[in-house]
Amino acid sequence: MSITVLLGAQWGDEGKGRIADALASEADIVARFNGGPNAGHSINVGGKTVKLHQVPSGVFRLGCQNIIGNGVVLNPAKLLEEIEQINEAGAQATPENLRISENAHIILQGHIALDKAKEKTQGGIGTTQTGIGFAYADKAYRVGIRAGMMRDAEKFGDTVYKRTLEINAQLAAQNAEQVDAEMTGAIYTAMATQIAPYLADTSAILRDALKRGKRILAEGAQGVLLDIDHGTYPFVTSSSATIGGVMTGLGVPPQSISRVMGAAKAFSTRVGKGPMPTELDGEMALRLRGTGANPWDEYGSTTGRPRRVGWLDAVALRTAVAVNGITELALTKLDILTGIDTLNIATRYQVDGRSLDELPSDSEVLERCTPIYEQMAGWTEDVQNCRSFTELPANAQNYIRRIEKLVKARITVISVGPEREQMIVR
Ligand code: IMP
Repeated sequence: MSITVLLGAQWGDEGKGRIADALASEADIVARFNGGPNAGHSINVGGKTVKLHQVPSGVFRLGCQNIIGNGVVLNPAKLLEEIEQINEAGAQATPENLRISENAHIILQGHIALDKAKEKTQGGIGTTQTGIGFAYADKAYRVGIRAGMMRDAEKFGDTVYKRTLEINAQLAAQNAEQVDAEMTGAIYTAMATQIAPYLADTSAILRDALKRGKRILAEGAQGVLLDIDHGTYPFVTSSSATIGGVMTGLGVPPQSISRVMGAAKAFSTRVGKGPMPTELDGEMALRLRGTGANPWDEYGSTTGRPRRVGWLDAVALRTAVAVNGITELALTKLDILTGIDTLNIATRYQVDGRSLDELPSDSEVLERCTPIYEQMAGWTEDVQNCRSFTELPANAQNYIRRIEKLVKARITVISVGPEREQMIVR
């Protein structure tokens, strides 16, 4: 029985895709347990770039099964687009290697319209405007539509049509543009026929695989600081991005988890609103963010928005490690720090005359926190060709060792450049 879990240990965009891609080479099954098309990462396959939003990263590994779990909210149109792109890139996403939980909830056009309308108001938090919050709200409110209904395409289309009428009433009340319910019903009916062959009881598949000793990679979307319960509420996504989401989002027992890996960037980034104590502006922010000319620059892969950037926040990372039982970390984008004279790491926060060594659970308190920094000497040597820890410049080694000590987790993987092989495994 063995599940390796990969979580984003910050605010998302930690470069999980790269790490997932590497871990997928040792997995029989890759299973996605939360989120929806709000996530995204690009994979280079045979010279073509494919953007995956909902399909797990194992799809490019021959013989690897991929599962979209019940904890995911699924946009069927985007899924079909992704499947087409994957097939065009010469790989395959078929009902043989991709199974979708019958209990995953469906994102409707109306959810997207509601998300967009909300973002235009004061209450907007800077979502990806992909309908995530409203699809999960329908699930919690018990009016959601589950993927399993796609087996009866007519009934599914009719249910989508009726729910869209109800959503239209909400949109009308906000003077927002409504959705064409009839057309949406017809489009969703057609998509149901295409998606139905992929449906399965994915919890049963996973539990059976565990019995047969298969290796499973549970891939999280977003980051644990965006978790609906443990993140910086209300500036969060609407799913469980923390370790608990693995069990509820896939339907697997906790004892089957043998390894919890967190991906963390060597500095901090965040998209959308919400507190970010180590946020930088000015020259250093531009330096860390990049211009957008490179695919690895800090611009959202789903929305293209420039990301907020800052120094590494060991307080936030320490909390992420503690809450999720993260046993090891993958530190990404170390090469971006090359050439910076002095690096700062936030080791504690100061607030209301107190000093904190973990993230306060109240976002309003977090907003008032001032980070206490520790300075470390940077390095000028190029790290991109380093393939072992000892090849790294001494100051880079010191930086990594200091983070390990501060957050109480071992850093076992270090990415030192954008290419697949530019990675150190310790
Ligand atoms: P939503 O998930 O689209 O509802 O957005 C809620 C919050 O989560 C916003 O601050 C988004 O910027 C953030 N968010 C959602 N998905 C991602 C992601 O994949 N990376 C980084 N931030 C994300």
